[in-house]
Amino acid sequence: MDNIAKILSDAGLENPAVAEYVAYWAGITEPDAIEVISAKDDDRLIAEGLDTGEIAPAGEGLYYSRSYYKDTARSEERTVVATHKPQEAGIYNNWHDATEVTARQLESMKGASRGKTMYVVPYLMAPPKAPLEKWARGVELTDNLTVVLHMIRMARVGVEHLNNLEDSGQFVRAVHVTGDLENLGQGTDKDKRLFATVADERTILHFGSSYGGNALLGKIAHGLRQASYDGWASGEFLSEQFMLIGIKDKLKNRTYYVCGGFPSASGKTNLAMMLAPDALGDRYEVYFYGDDIVWLHVGEDGKIYGMNPEYGAFGVAKDTNWKSNPTAMDAIKEGSKTLFTNVAYNPETQELWWEGKTPDYPEDVTGWLDWKGEKISDRPADRQRSEAKGDEWAHPNSRFTTSLANVPNVAPDYEEPQGVPIDAIIFGGRVKDREPLIRAITDLTEGVYDGLTLGAQATFAAEGKEGVLRYDPMSMRPFMSYPEGDYAAHWLKIIGSAKEQPIFAHVNWFQRDPEDGHFLWPGYRDNLRALLWLLDVKEGRAEGVQTPVGILPKKEELNLDGFEGDDADLDKLLSIDAELWKKEMSYRREHLAQFKNLPEQIWAAHERIEQAFNA
Ligand code: GTP
Ligand code: MN
Ligand code: MN
Repeated sequence: MDNIAKILSDAGLENPAVAEYVAYWAGITEPDAIEVISAKDDDRLIAEGLDTGEIAPAGEGLYYSRSYYKDTARSEERTVVATHKPQEAGIYNNWHDATEVTARQLESMKGASRGKTMYVVPYLMAPPKAPLEKWARGVELTDNLTVVLHMIRMARVGVEHLNNLEDSGQFVRAVHVTGDLENLGQGTDKDKRLFATVADERTILHFGSSYGGNALLGKIAHGLRQASYDGWASGEFLSEQFMLIGIKDKLKNRTYYVCGGFPSASGKTNLAMMLAPDALGDRYEVYFYGDDIVWLHVGEDGKIYGMNPEYGAFGVAKDTNWKSNPTAMDAIKEGSKTLFTNVAYNPETQELWWEGKTPDYPEDVTGWLDWKGEKISDRPADRQRSEAKGDEWAHPNSRFTTSLANVPNVAPDYEEPQGVPIDAIIFGGRVKDREPLIRAITDLTEGVYDGLTLGAQATFAAEGKEGVLRYDPMSMRPFMSYPEGDYAAHWLKIIGSAKEQPIFAHVNWFQRDPEDGHFLWPGYRDNLRALLWLLDVKEGRAEGVQTPVGILPKKEELNLDGFEGDDADLDKLLSIDAELWKKEMSYRREHLAQFKNLPEQIWAAHERIEQAFNA
């Protein structure tokens, strides 16, 4: 213990509660060495990783890593929220008893870091001096160097964030142990992995992975699960899987701030990195504030502020190219110190490739390794360039990790401690019919109701009845940490207490033509057109058409300068199919009926909409 206090203090970390925490867990996991990390250690750690082969060079200032082939995504089945109160079990939070879960994790972690270094990573999930800073401090203990490199990119890492605290013990204790990945029984009935947030102890215990949200504990485990629990328990704030952008109207010299949730892989990062359509570029500019997490609180001036607690972006590589997302391509260019995970790699040329990076595969397969590290040239000829599932060069969930400072459209004030005042909150999923391009909602309860009934269409028959959504309230289903009824009440309370109410909207970029299946809306940069209309409604410049589920744009109210989409498709995108909606209302009733203590107002909103459809 004396020794550990000295290691910490030599590294400039002066916090007795952290020393006690590190000593306790070092006693359990038994690492060979303990090392304290700050962001300035990045270059040295990269050199060490290149030396040991944990990462590989991928051109000037770019790095590549591969995770174990059975460890390439978040595991929802193996993720639990644990507390001491059984009444905190919800439908989605996978609640477990805290005492049992902790005992199990202690057992799994016992001696599991032998032969390895325990890195002590003090971090902050907020800009420094943020009003919510006390909820943002954490210390991750991890036995994996690549995880440390990810943390340095995704969170503000440094001893300074944990020194001189009013309450030295107020930080999230986040313990990550990789485990023996080849012997964990991933996906079998003897699966030893467990990813637990012990929410009422502000302790995160993740065992059995080195990948993404399973291992970088600042991001999802702390930033979303723990933070949404803290925000509820303290009554102070909301934490949501949201993107956050600024839309600047250069003519009026006014910037509007829009945040919102789309389920995973439904376009948050793409929206946040959006360029205005060419024809609108003279007047409007889109600024990136965040692409995956927003904390919302009411400021002293009574406005709702949205703040991105992250320091980087962990984006999907697939289909990212200079046409679909030039902003992302620019952010991950040479010199950016971006880390790529599970894409295809050519060690001879140090090149990287993923499906959709270029229209075709690299010309010469010589030297190329797929995401598992297997030579493409060793495959039978007909599988070297095959688009069949399982033959991908890059894993479909392969990602890039880069700091926000690299994102070319990052807002000049993205580190503003309290965030930015929110004008609009939007929800959107992937729905192939029924959901119009955009519907504006001006009533708080109906906005919250809309978030609670957000979903994406089941893509595989096994996941549900055809046409029925996989509901994903506020896009938080995988990160929900407390019961849904309380969640709805907390939303009504926090947003309801603001002096200026945001406008809500539901958007859908994914409606398809029932005949040939093409997307009715071109999406991407054109999405700005829908958001500009929403701001016009908010400012009283557009009135739209009232429907039971909100206000739809009149075609002439949309700014269509330079629009290349189909006019006939627009008619479909701007209308409501009442028959499909009536069916949907009955599914929604079943969905909401699962939630205990759902506020009466939410049911009243449901009834109101249902009656309007039946009138
Ligand atoms: P997570 O990071 O997993 O939470 O997902 P995300 O919400 O950030 O999703 P992302 O922006 O990475 O997009 C996922 C997929 O949706 C990509 O394949 C995009 O190409 C596609 N996509 C994004 N925006 C649009 C759009 O406006 N229209 C269409 N058709 N596809 C889109
Ligand atoms: Mn996400
Ligand atoms: Mn994203």
